Amino acid sequence: MKNDLAINGGPKTLNKNFEWPIFDDKEIRAISEITKSGNWGNPDCAGIVEEFEKDFAAYCGTKYALTCVNGSVALRLALIASGVKPGDEVIIPPYTFIATASIVLEANCVPVFVDIEADTYNIDPVEIEKAITSKTKAIIPVHFAGLSCNMDAIMKIAEKHNLTVIEDAAHAHGGEYQVKKLGSIGHAGCFSFQSSKNLTSGEGGMAITNDDQLYKMMNSLRNVGRVEGGQWYEHHYLGCNYRMTQLQAALLKEQFKRLDEQTKLRDENGRYLADLLGDINGISPLQRYIGETLHTYHIFIFRYDKSKFNNLPKKAFSEMLAAEGVPCFMGYPEPLYKQPLFQEKNFMCYAIPDEVSYKNVMCPVTEKACYEDAVWIFQNTMLGTKKDMEDIASAIRKIQVAMESD
Ligand SMILES: Cc1ncc(COP(=O)(O)O)c(C=O)c1O
Repeated sequence: MKNDLAINGGPKTLNKNFEWPIFDDKEIRAISEITKSGNWGNPDCAGIVEEFEKDFAAYCGTKYALTCVNGSVALRLALIASGVKPGDEVIIPPYTFIATASIVLEANCVPVFVDIEADTYNIDPVEIEKAITSKTKAIIPVHFAGLSCNMDAIMKIAEKHNLTVIEDAAHAHGGEYQVKKLGSIGHAGCFSFQSSKNLTSGEGGMAITNDDQLYKMMNSLRNVGRVEGGQWYEHHYLGCNYRMTQLQAALLKEQFKRLDEQTKLRDENGRYLADLLGDINGISPLQRYIGETLHTYHIFIFRYDKSKFNNLPKKAFSEMLAAEGVPCFMGYPEPLYKQPLFQEKNFMCYAIPDEVSYKNVMCPVTEKACYEDAVWIFQNTMLGTKKDMEDIASAIRKIQVAMESD
């Protein structure tokens, strides 16, 4: 039976190229028009950039949307503009991309890692409450994979302790929690338009907010500290040139028109695949909250139990599944706090107090997710057909049968 596996030269279960990004002449025309106009940059934060911001704010139901060079910078702008001071603590999950943590360090603040929930992989509100100290100033919940965090619980805690909530919605364009767009529930929400994301211009970022002050400060920081009504060479705050180009915005404006239909399809396929995989012994798709109304499935994640696959390690399993034609990956190899950056405190010029150490941080759910459980299937796969979803389930069953026959 093992000879049947694609990794051993057998036939692939899924023989399809899941393309990404998806575009046609409309994107090419939009880019071509900007190219011909010669108006490529964005010194005034105006033009098609501003049009896209207005469209995105209206879509999210927020007063403001502000583009910038990438999702990391969007988070950085939001955190710094929120008024944090050196040494303040910011609560984040350890099961996320490095940017969620590194922007905290770049603001001279202290990342405090709080574990995730085993059935959603999102930050656990019970653990957040336990981690709050007199120095805590902000929480950055990550809507990991496009599944909303438990925002009711998080906002309640934030209100009680007077904390800023910055939603990391890098995976969550168009996703919803109780029919509210993700990113619009906290004080600010931040998106990435990097190549792999559900809405992309290769690189790019966006911060949304309803808060006038926060917007004003983010706008200044992304534009070298300029202020509205000020002179060109007049700089009030420590900002930088973080402006998005017209070329990126032109691409995003077209890609944005595709977002709703694509999100709906990913959500439908995600639900279907979760049903199919739920029937396989040893495979548990992550759960959705009651009230979580639209999952963007930037990643479809399932938990893998090697004991039901003859103790085949997760890494070997995901390599076998990838060989079967399922675009998948074993996910983060370790929690963020295990990275050399934290273990060795290689924080360069950033002033993190000496007594802060990450040597003894231990988030057991995240560790299990990294080392044993989590397998990721990428978002473009979720734009496939129902038959593709059935083939993914068949590929996993094929591996299980081969392992059982060992
Ligand atoms: C959860 C999360 N936050 C933030 C970012 C940063 O976005 P960018 O790569 O656009 O800087 C990413 C990017 O992968 C991400 O996955």
